[in-house]
Amino acid sequence: MIQLKSVSLLLAGLVLSSTAGLAQAAPNAALNAKFGVCFSCHGADGHAILPTYPNLAGQNKDYLVQTLREFRDGTRPNAIMSAMAKPLSNSDIDQIAMYFAGIKSGK
Ligand code: HEC
Repeated sequence: MIQLKSVSLLLAGLVLSSTAGLAQAAPNAALNAKFGVCFSCHGADGHAILPTYPNLAGQNKDYLVQTLREFRDGTRPNAIMSAMAKPLSNSDIDQIAMYFAGIKSGK
């Protein structure tokens, strides 16, 4: 009986720790719906899916905001990113910058 109890405590701990891990790697559904296209290149966890795409995990938030605004207004021209940034509002930019900046980098 005691053994069973500690096994289930252990399992509960495992479930808790694996969902905590997921919470960091997988964005919520709202973010996914809005920024899924970004994740398809830069990775949902900010680690790019190809070496030719930059990693964004852990990047400085102000840098990300500034850069996305520059892509959007053409100050930093890039065929892919200018098109990607064009429809973003200032609050979209803040939201996605905060998301990527908040992820621990390194994988
Ligand atoms: C088709 C792939 C692709 C998609 C989709 C994409 N990006 Fe990018 N992203 C790139 C590439 C390539 C660069 C490098 C551009 C350059 O060299 O200027 C880049 C650069 C960036 C940078 C600058 C990184 C740095 O270190 O200066 C940011 C920020 C960024 N992307 C955010 C986003 C966001 C937010 C979205 C969604 C709205 C998005 N990207 C969608 C490919 C993509």
